[in-house]
Amino acid sequence: MNATSALPTTMQFVDHGAGGPAGCMRINNGPLPVVSDDEVLIRVAAAGVNRPDVSQRSGSYPAPADASQVMGLEISGVIVAVGSAVTRWKAGDAVCALTPGGGYAEYCKTPAAHCLPIPSGLSMLEAAALCETFFTVWANVFDRARLTAGETLLIHGGSSGIGSTAIQLAKAFGASKVIVTCGDQAKIDYALKLGADAGINYKTEDFVEATKAATDGRGADVILDMVGAPYFQKNLAAAALEGRIAQIAFQHGVKAEVNMQPLMMKRLTWTGSTLRARPKSAKAAIAASLESQVWPKFAQNTDALRPNIHATFALSEVVKAHQMMEAGTHFGKIVLRVEE
Ligand SMILES: NC(=O)c1ccc[n+]([C@@H]2O[C@H](COP(=O)([O-])OP(=O)(O)OC[C@H]3O[C@@H](n4cnc5c(N)ncnc54)[C@H](OP(=O)(O)O)[C@@H]3O)[C@@H](O)[C@H]2O)c1
Repeated sequence: MNATSALPTTMQFVDHGAGGPAGCMRINNGPLPVVSDDEVLIRVAAAGVNRPDVSQRSGSYPAPADASQVMGLEISGVIVAVGSAVTRWKAGDAVCALTPGGGYAEYCKTPAAHCLPIPSGLSMLEAAALCETFFTVWANVFDRARLTAGETLLIHGGSSGIGSTAIQLAKAFGASKVIVTCGDQAKIDYALKLGADAGINYKTEDFVEATKAATDGRGADVILDMVGAPYFQKNLAAAALEGRIAQIAFQHGVKAEVNMQPLMMKRLTWTGSTLRARPKSAKAAIAASLESQVWPKFAQNTDALRPNIHATFALSEVVKAHQMMEAGTHFGKIVLRVEE
C-alpha cells in the first residue's frame, strides 16, 4: 500500500449499533479501513445521505457481509493511500466515489474503479451528493430502460434525490418530455424548476390519466418507479407501446395482483436493479460509462446537472439528517459535512 505519511491510527465514524430509530446512531472511534490491492483510502470531505441508509439503519436493508457495516454509499474527498495494483489514482487526488458502505466516517475505502474525478465546477459538498443517484439513474433509466433522445420519461418521486438526478440527466440527454409525480405543489414546483415539463400531485390526481393527457394519449416511453406494488398495474397503463418500466424500490409494498395483459398487448419491458448488490465489475462499468458520457456534460453546462443540496449537517448531527429524510420534507439531497 502506498500512503501519505502521518495517517492517524483511529477515526470517527457513525455507529448505528444493532439499528433502530434515528436516535440509535452515535459517533464512535475505530481503526482506519485497510485497503486491498485494487482499493483506495479516501479522507472523506462529505458524505451523501440516501434513503437506503435509512433502511440499513432501521434494519430492513442490511449491508452485504463483505462490506463495511458503517452506513454511507457515496462520498467526496482526497485519496490518502492506494493499493498495490492501483495505477489510475495517487495520494492527493480529489475524487467523488461510490462506496460499498462506510461513507459516514472520516476515512473510507472503495475500489479504485468506483472513483471519479470531481466534475468541473462542483464543490466537494456537491460532489458528495452525486454517485449513488447518478450510478442508479444511469444504470436503470439509460442502460436497462434505454431512454433515448425524443422519448418521454415518467418519474415517480420527482423531488427525491433520485428523481432530481433523473430529471436533470433525462433533459441533458434530450428527453422530449419529463413528467414527475410528487406529494405536494411545492415539490412539483421544485421539479419544474429543475427541468421537468409536467408535474402530477399523486395525492390528488390520477397519474395514469395525467400522463396520458400530457402525452396526447400515448403514455410514457420509460417509467422510473420507486413506489412498488400499488403502482404496478397503473404503470402498465401509463406506459406507451414498447414502453420500459425500471423498478428501483418498493416503498409501498412488494406484492401485487396484476393483470398481465398490457405487458403483452403493449410489448412492455419491466426491469429493475439494486446497485449495492451488483458485482464490483458492473459498478466499474457504470463508472466508466458515466465518466465518458456524463462527466463531459458538467464541463459544458454545470448548472444543468448540478445536484441540489437541500441541507447539510455535521457528522455529529447525523441523527437530524436522518430525521429530515424520514420526515420527507427535503427537496433533492441531504449531505453530511465530515471534514469541517
Ligand atoms: N435500486 C437502487 O439501486 C436504488 C439506489 C438508490 C436509491 N434507491 C431507492 O430510490 C428511492 C429514492 O431514494 P432517495 O435517496 O432519492 O430518497 P428520498 O429523497 O427520500 O425520496 C423518496 C421519494 O419517494 C416518493 N414517494 C413516496 N411515496 C410515493 C408515491 N405514492 N407516489 C410517488 N412518489 C412517492 C417521495 O415523494 P414525496 O416526497 O413527494 O411524497 C420522495 O420523493 C428510495 O426508495 C431508495 O431506496 C434505489
